[in-house]
Amino acid sequence: MTMKERRKRDVGSWSRFFYCTVFVVFFCVLFTGFTFSSFRLFGESFHPVLVSAWQNPAMEAISGEFPVSPSIEIRETVIFPDHILIFLQYPPSLPLFTKEDIDCSYFPPNSSQSQSHLKLPPLYIAGENLDHQIVRCPIPPRGFTPSLALKTNGHLPAGPTHRWDALAYEALVDRDNTTILFVKGLNLRPERISDASRFECVYGWDFKRPKFLLRADVVTVAQEIARCKTPLSVLNSPQKLNAIKVSIRVKGRGILHSVARPQFRPESDTPVPKRYEMCVCTMVRNQAKFLREWVMYHARIGVQRWFIYDNDSDDAIDPVIESLDEENFNITRHIWPWIKTQEAGFAHCALRARGSCEWVGFIDVDEFLHLPGNLSLHDVLRNQSGSHRVGELRTSCHSFGPSGLKRVPSEGVTVGYTCRVSVPERHKSIVRPEALNSSLINVVHHFHLRDNFEYVNVERGVMVINHYKYQVWEVFKDKFYRRVATYVADWQDKENVGSKDRAPGLGTEAVEPSDWSSRFCEVTDTGLKDWVLRVFADPQTHLLPWQEQQEEQEDRLFIEGNYEIEKEMKQRDSVVVKDVN
Ligand SMILES: *[C@@H]1O[C@H](CO)[C@@H](O)[C@H](O)[C@H]1NC(C)=O
Ligand SMILES: *[C@@H]1O[C@H](CO)[C@@H](O)[C@H](O)[C@H]1NC(C)=O
Ligand SMILES: *[C@@H]1O[C@H](CO)[C@@H](O)[C@H](O)[C@H]1NC(C)=O
Ligand SMILES: *[C@@H]1O[C@H](CO)[C@@H](O)[C@H](O)[C@H]1NC(C)=O
Ligand SMILES: *[C@@H]1O[C@H](CO)[C@@H](O)[C@H](O)[C@H]1NC(C)=O
Ligand SMILES: *[C@@H]1O[C@H](CO)[C@@H](O)[C@H](O)[C@H]1NC(C)=O
Ligand SMILES: *[C@@H]1O[C@H](CO)[C@@H](O)[C@H](O)[C@H]1NC(C)=O
Repeated sequence: MTMKERRKRDVGSWSRFFYCTVFVVFFCVLFTGFTFSSFRLFGESFHPVLVSAWQNPAMEAISGEFPVSPSIEIRETVIFPDHILIFLQYPPSLPLFTKEDIDCSYFPPNSSQSQSHLKLPPLYIAGENLDHQIVRCPIPPRGFTPSLALKTNGHLPAGPTHRWDALAYEALVDRDNTTILFVKGLNLRPERISDASRFECVYGWDFKRPKFLLRADVVTVAQEIARCKTPLSVLNSPQKLNAIKVSIRVKGRGILHSVARPQFRPESDTPVPKRYEMCVCTMVRNQAKFLREWVMYHARIGVQRWFIYDNDSDDAIDPVIESLDEENFNITRHIWPWIKTQEAGFAHCALRARGSCEWVGFIDVDEFLHLPGNLSLHDVLRNQSGSHRVGELRTSCHSFGPSGLKRVPSEGVTVGYTCRVSVPERHKSIVRPEALNSSLINVVHHFHLRDNFEYVNVERGVMVINHYKYQVWEVFKDKFYRRVATYVADWQDKENVGSKDRAPGLGTEAVEPSDWSSRFCEVTDTGLKDWVLRVFADPQTHLLPWQEQQEEQEDRLFIEGNYEIEKEMKQRDSVVVKDVN
């Protein structure tokens, strides 16, 4: 027998063992009566069949009595155009898998788990807690069922599979007890409140073969966010209903797939004053090398808390955030793997920030708030806080060009880039989260406000944003691969070629124009550079505090070799998965 065959056989017997275990567990659940009372909520009797959807708490509850293995579970699998995400849940106190422990595996149509299958290494593993670890895998060949193979013994059984383009993906219970549901695929118009009466929210465990469903009214729905009236039974027993999911449907039609389990985040209601005067929400992807300068700079002008929404970075952003955290920057990373959902991510972040932040800025990692008049953020915010009608400050953005550079400036972007376009482009906002309209509508960084709140434009002499938008080609070209905002076309798409979002003069190909380094240079602007050098440069070495770390960081990135994987991903034709399932 070859090694390969032996391994296959091991896998087969392992999976038989697994099913036996599930069988035993199943009967234990049946006879101990665990979970039965939960189902009385629905005014219907309990059908044992539901146990499969109800497995997690049941397994947890009995794991003490039956210390049998395999309760690591694939909770859900979501299929994106160019990768899949597999969501894992662990029983208490098991160590989390690392990339070395598992392979992505794919079973051909109509095969059993013991048959031969395809294996590929995972692209990335994210998440640090037992309820929420995400494995990113290459997309399966058509018709194949994705799963995970343990390097040591056998497989995890495949979980329910969902397509990303029509999916309820996150849910938060707000302090007014409504559930805020984030949904892809409703295709509602931007910037409009849609007709809530056409929709209905649905709570349950399994929307494909539903046995029990709780319906709930939709309070508001706009863009990609619905607000549902949370059923009392869900509110009153959040722990027991741990695995319950929420979804939405157009009345009379089918229910959207869902991976959204309502999160309860009790908000410490200390209305005034909030713990932080100024926080920042930002969405990053593979921008670890810019993070330190950006955080240290903003801390100096008065930002106190950073919420980093990390869109599947694989450039070792973790150690950067950890070390900033150790240096007492109040910074946390939140995994946000959902593609083209920047607006929803901002709304999610605003809700999380509301309990502790008076003001929240929504800026990117290549944008720096600059106060040319030597004021601090505190001065500017206090000036506005006097008026309780001001809910949003709009700040103009100056777009900086490559400034003649050909290589990434080692002093950082604020010192490196000094030439920009003369007319400011757009503006970004700092909002008071208490002033947000309950629809949570936001488009290009502006939120809709409650009645009685208004925005003000901040004078350019007081504050502007330096947007290092057109950096050296090596950095800039990444923008071609995917745009983050929902209503913005990818640059490789031919549609909407004249849009302001695109770099003027570039087509749809990531090819460096010969004069790139001298483009977008109309006026020299060293305002921020001068300030940064004055405030941060070491008087002896003239180094900036983020400069020393940088070389170490680059070594680390290189060692991890993640860039290689990323390159490979980009080179693959992004095949659109049409009909898995
Ligand atoms: C798989 O099974 C279904 C029904 O059981 C059958 O219609 C289909 O042709 C099978 N596909 C393959 C590739 O064997
Ligand atoms: C939300 O629900 C909980 C549990 O039912 C209840 O105690 C609380 O008063 C409710 N809050 C509001 C604002 O309705
Ligand atoms: C972090 O938060 C604490 C208050 O919780 C604050 O005192 C401290 O200044 C913050 N750190 C920074 C770097 O802003
Ligand atoms: C996250 O990154 C992916 C992969 O490149 C990209 O397609 C997507 O638009 C990004 N999403 C957000 C919300 O930034
Ligand atoms: C800001 O402060 C620096 C140093 O104190 C000074 O040189 C500069 O002129 C000031 N700028 C403004 C606009 O007041
Ligand atoms: C303070 O507010 C007033 C009125 O809104 C405005 O004219 C002024 O420029 C503001 N000053 C600062 C420093 O923001
Ligand atoms: C939210 O905005 C809508 C208009 O878009 C308005 O009718 C509604 O009153 C606002 N909600 C609140 C709480 O102010």
